[in-house]
Amino acid sequence: MLVQSTSRIQEQLEAWVEDNKGHAVLGTTAQYIPALGKEDPSQLGICMVDDDGNYYCAGDTDKEFTLQSISKALTFIALSCHYGLEFVLERVDVEPTGEAFNSIIPFEIHRPNKPFNPFINAGAITISALLPGQTGQKKYEFLLHFLEELVGHPLELDKEVYDSEWQSSHRNRALAYYLKEAKFLEIEVEEALDIYIRQCAIKVSTRDLALIGLIIAYDGFNPITKVKHFSEEIAQVAKVLMVTCGMYNSSGNFAAHVGIPAKSGVSGGIMAAVPPKLHSQTYEFRAGAGIGVYGPAIDVQGNSAAGTMMLRQISKEWDLSIF
Ligand code: DON
Repeated sequence: MLVQSTSRIQEQLEAWVEDNKGHAVLGTTAQYIPALGKEDPSQLGICMVDDDGNYYCAGDTDKEFTLQSISKALTFIALSCHYGLEFVLERVDVEPTGEAFNSIIPFEIHRPNKPFNPFINAGAITISALLPGQTGQKKYEFLLHFLEELVGHPLELDKEVYDSEWQSSHRNRALAYYLKEAKFLEIEVEEALDIYIRQCAIKVSTRDLALIGLIIAYDGFNPITKVKHFSEEIAQVAKVLMVTCGMYNSSGNFAAHVGIPAKSGVSGGIMAAVPPKLHSQTYEFRAGAGIGVYGPAIDVQGNSAAGTMMLRQISKEWDLSIF
């Protein structure tokens, strides 16, 4: 990477974590999943990785947290790798809804012939149910293995978060029944819900998210290990979805003020993929980067409040926007 000073990058990130911590008051932890609700909302951490494998981490980065909706981008990629993009896009669209991530309204009003996109809960439950494997356990293991290959180490389920969401997921259960009635679900409601909730409860670190973000930024290629994990075609659609739907109803604002393909989760995680930008005005991360953020106080759209503000500052200062 073309950098002036690695320690300067580190110091800069530490300063920006401090600058943005206060924005956590603009959100609250995800109360509708009690195990997430009890997290300390003031935490904020970030990890960035460059194409040479240098990690720059600042703030609360020791903490592990669950993927939640970030898993939706990863299921989309894993499923597309296995069955091909065409198969997946026949079953889920790539259109934003303008409604909340767990809304039933688009279904009732539009009666679409497939869910609008794989990042809203309706689309995510639909495609999680399609993961290869005869049983829910096998489907989950397929995804877990795919993710472990990306991050290069074993991953675990957060049982407490899984149980907590399973017991409180009345709306997702209702949504899954809608999907079943519309014939989008080929397996039973409870089984589909179990796979979906399990994928949401996989534990990661900001470091893991940064690495996966880098691989997406590099079109499925890991520039550090030189392993190609998925095709350019899949990465391209994943990035389109991240830009248009990744931050839900803040996607337009996020594109305007941050301009980096990203996916959020209600745990407060954000995974961002910064593609190389050789004509950039600044030297930092010209060759692209992956970013993992953790800030569990989320705003009404479900995105980390402080994390989003911090990404805004970083993108502006280091000219990371793709637009
Ligand atoms: O289904 C849910 O409500 C959660 N497991 C995931 C939602 C989520 O992360 C939306 N993101 N910002």
